[in-house]
Amino acid sequence: MSVAKPLPHDAAHLHVTGAARYVDDIPTPAGTLHLAFGMSTAACGTLNNMDLDAVRAAPGVVAVLTAPDLPFDNDVSPSAHDEPLLATDAVHYVGQPVFLVIAETHLQARFAARLGKIDITETKPVFTIEDALAANARFEDGPRIYAQGDAASALDAAENTLSGSLDIGGQEHFYLEGQAALVQPGENGDMHVISSTQHPTEIQHKVAEAIGQPMHAVRVETRRMGGGFGGKESQGNALAVACAVAVRLTGQPCKMRYDRDDDMIITGKRHDFRIDYDIGFDEEGHITALDVRQYTRCGWALDLSLPVADRAMLHADNGYWLPNIRIESHRLRTNTQSATAFRGFGGPQGMLGMERIVDHVAAELGLDPLVVRQRNFYASSGQEIQTTPYGQPVEDFILDDLVAQLAKTSDYDARRAAVAEWNAANPVLKKGIALTPVKFGISFTLTHLNQAGALVHVYSDGSIHLNHGGTEMGQGLFQKIAQVAASRFGVALDAIKITATDTAKVPNTSATAASSGSDLNGMAVKAACDTLRDRMAEHLAQLHQCHPDAVVFAEGRVQAGEADYSFAEVAAMAHQARISLSATGFYKTPDIQWDRIKGHGRPFFYFAYGAAVTEVVVDTLTGENRILRADVLHDAGASLNPALDIGQVEGGYVQGAGWLTTEELVWDDAGRLRTHAPSTYKIPACGDRPDIFNVSLWDGENRADTIYKSKAVGEPPLMLGISALLALSDAVSACGPNYPDLHAPATAESVLASVHKAQDA
Ligand code: MTE
Ligand code: MOS
Repeated sequence: MSVAKPLPHDAAHLHVTGAARYVDDIPTPAGTLHLAFGMSTAACGTLNNMDLDAVRAAPGVVAVLTAPDLPFDNDVSPSAHDEPLLATDAVHYVGQPVFLVIAETHLQARFAARLGKIDITETKPVFTIEDALAANARFEDGPRIYAQGDAASALDAAENTLSGSLDIGGQEHFYLEGQAALVQPGENGDMHVISSTQHPTEIQHKVAEAIGQPMHAVRVETRRMGGGFGGKESQGNALAVACAVAVRLTGQPCKMRYDRDDDMIITGKRHDFRIDYDIGFDEEGHITALDVRQYTRCGWALDLSLPVADRAMLHADNGYWLPNIRIESHRLRTNTQSATAFRGFGGPQGMLGMERIVDHVAAELGLDPLVVRQRNFYASSGQEIQTTPYGQPVEDFILDDLVAQLAKTSDYDARRAAVAEWNAANPVLKKGIALTPVKFGISFTLTHLNQAGALVHVYSDGSIHLNHGGTEMGQGLFQKIAQVAASRFGVALDAIKITATDTAKVPNTSATAASSGSDLNGMAVKAACDTLRDRMAEHLAQLHQCHPDAVVFAEGRVQAGEADYSFAEVAAMAHQARISLSATGFYKTPDIQWDRIKGHGRPFFYFAYGAAVTEVVVDTLTGENRILRADVLHDAGASLNPALDIGQVEGGYVQGAGWLTTEELVWDDAGRLRTHAPSTYKIPACGDRPDIFNVSLWDGENRADTIYKSKAVGEPPLMLGISALLALSDAVSACGPNYPDLHAPATAESVLASVHKAQDA
């Protein structure tokens, strides 16, 4: 069987030879025009007059559009219709698209876009979480609150209490392929869109609205993205819509791609958070009461901020049983890029808040943080069932066993002792170590999104062509799905072909997001394959007077009674017998329901688990630091493909560690993003990977009934990177008596500041 094999990514050879085609590699038809946005230079104000004469006169310019020129809806929002493609009477952040240039070449469009003179009457902007709280700038009337037990009385009654606050920075997605779209005109106003998007159906929907056509007039295709990481759930809308509007106007194909700096200046990023907390705990470190306030910087438009902030609340417990907890979430409006989905979707911020809380308790009591973690874990599966703060029973808890195993294989205790010894002997270079766990809820919290479709054809030569609603962004979804299909038909993997995701083949899809790609689409493809296999089995059973269940598909052969055929022979026979060899499949996740306003129910089908131990060294004179070693044990259930899953775990860890260490977004006092290139925004490079990096998968299958008992693996490993931040904090705490109070990202600068905090008398 193909599933469970550690096969390489299906396009690995194309990726490494440069032959994999991205939007910008597609040869454009003759006459293709190129687009660029003119952007707001002010963070907040009313838009008066625009002098675009110089733009119109620039070489190669074909047309220049402003909001009043748009024929239908001026909206690219994925949620609240609050995000115009082109600014109307006000501007809300530096970089907001204000006018659209259509030119003969990409460079001409970009050049001309710089020549616009935009007259803005500036008003007082709101940039930070503190600004937004002072101005009461919010997306909802007041905070959202989830609670379990009675945190206030439990805090009053607690043996010990402690308060603190943690700032968490945002993160640029830095997908290697920037946002891009190419739109070609069809007959009678139809449009064919090729987009680098995680969400082809949304692109179809927004383009249809923008050109005043039903969705059937718009076909969207996505073969692959050069990374999405959540940044292509909604942020591709503007480019596809701009192209469609320009196609409608000119009748010519239109293409738009953001250069890296425009991409970073225009598009949304991970939400920054501030998390304030009051903890009650006993002498052993059991957390008896917790009051958490999460302040979320959403930027200027709503985008996906409400479900992101919800997911932060839903991960405020991480792996810990909290009988008395109150979580308050503030969704704040600021004059910055509209923050959007990013791997983990709010979960990482919520979880980091909790890990920081446990760490702080351990520091206060002088205990090993791992011991405090273990004392607060949920009860194991098979024991008493405890509920999350939102009322979901935790039935599949394995962190106690998983963490015990990792502590052993990583030699945690001995290494912790060695770190202490090192720190006692070395005044300048300090080492730190931390083990942090991950419990991540799997399912879209908007319940209706948990559905998927598939379309499978068997050709008369036995080759199989399939489509599903998921998109490929490097995570290996297509390979996993091909493995599922090959396994259902008992054929070799090379019998299966998966082509571009296409709204004309599988309609009404959800974004490939929430790590649910293989869970949902794998099941939909399985359903379609099984329909076809059953039809063929039925036919052979009749022919050979056996029961259909006795027809066996394996290793490219089909056995029915005494008869033994190749799969290709059976396909040809079925065709001769006029049996349909094409089927759709559909799947919806069972057993989930959830009231997001009350904060109660069962939002998740199951949880994915993992843990990491990170050891670091810090130069306490400069704040510079390195990850010396990381050990990871991650739960992918019965893995569909251990090679791809380990790739996801390694990449997730490194991306998470980057978020919390070197990746710093800096805006100046005028609201301009100053870090809009790799020269100033430091993602981890090859050399930043831990020197020693031991990654293993947990040996166990999913308790829930998922595709071959696998677990989703896309996002959860990002949160393994939390161990890097807490290891740095551990190293800094060796510098002095105070809790280091290290904020994220822990850049060298911020590590140095926290060294001084730790040392201060
Ligand atoms: N891995 C790669 N290589 N590239 C990506 O863009 N996106 C992540 C994760 N892993 C991403 C990735 C995010 S944000 C999600 S939600 C999942 O993949 C989506 O894919 P899946 O649902 O198939 O796991
Ligand atoms: Mo991932 S943030 O759900 O696209």
